[in-house]
Amino acid sequence: METVAIIPAAGSGTRLGLGTPKAFVPLEGQTLLERAVAGALDVGVHRVVIAVPRDLEARTQDLFRAQPNVHTVVGGSERTESVRNALASIEGNPSYALVHDAARPLTPRRVFDRVLTALRAGHRNVVPVLPVSDTVRTLSSQQPEDVAGLSAPVERAWLRAVQTPQGFAFKDLADAHERFERDATTNVTDDASLLEAMGIPAVGVEGSHEAFKITHPLDLELARMLCQRKEN
Ligand code: C5P
Repeated sequence: METVAIIPAAGSGTRLGLGTPKAFVPLEGQTLLERAVAGALDVGVHRVVIAVPRDLEARTQDLFRAQPNVHTVVGGSERTESVRNALASIEGNPSYALVHDAARPLTPRRVFDRVLTALRAGHRNVVPVLPVSDTVRTLSSQQPEDVAGLSAPVERAWLRAVQTPQGFAFKDLADAHERFERDATTNVTDDASLLEAMGIPAVGVEGSHEAFKITHPLDLELARMLCQRKEN
């Protein structure tokens, strides 16, 4: 049963404010991307396809030159396009696909294992989830910048934040992206939502606080501290 991992790494990292695409930011001697790829390889995926910005394609190929099962494609302007480009480069019929953000470099092995176990048990759309600690409200205005108008809080006990790696039957993921490319009307921020739109509901497994997404400078600080603590 072949498993491929797709690592979307073509984001600009604007919110991190370092002037380097986020996946190429160093974290204690290794880029976020190298750490994310290592996480996937550690659980025995057979192939990894990374989607990167066009101007970093050659550098990425160099970075993984010694690993023949790691391939690089050029990503797109949206995350969905980056995943789609990676999918288009995959030949054959793998059984499973993991999609894992380069921006979650410290995801522990146990999260990958939980996702893979659920896939092998026959689930087709698997996401790691975590309870939400803040109280959450939606905005009542039509403008995301306008925070003055708020709806009532959503009941927190029912909320879950969704992480990666997300796991899918490979064919479903390929079909979902093909369909999205044809019919997309709204933006989506993960792949599980695309399968759900096709009538394949997402199944949750336990995520991890260590699988947090590096988005803001403080996230990078935290990641550095965690890496240093592990090394000592
Ligand atoms: O922007 P966000 O933090 O949600 O990105 C999640 C992941 O998707 C990151 O690893 C980022 O590099 C990747 N991405 C991509 N192509 C884009 C935008 C984001 O591969 N156009």
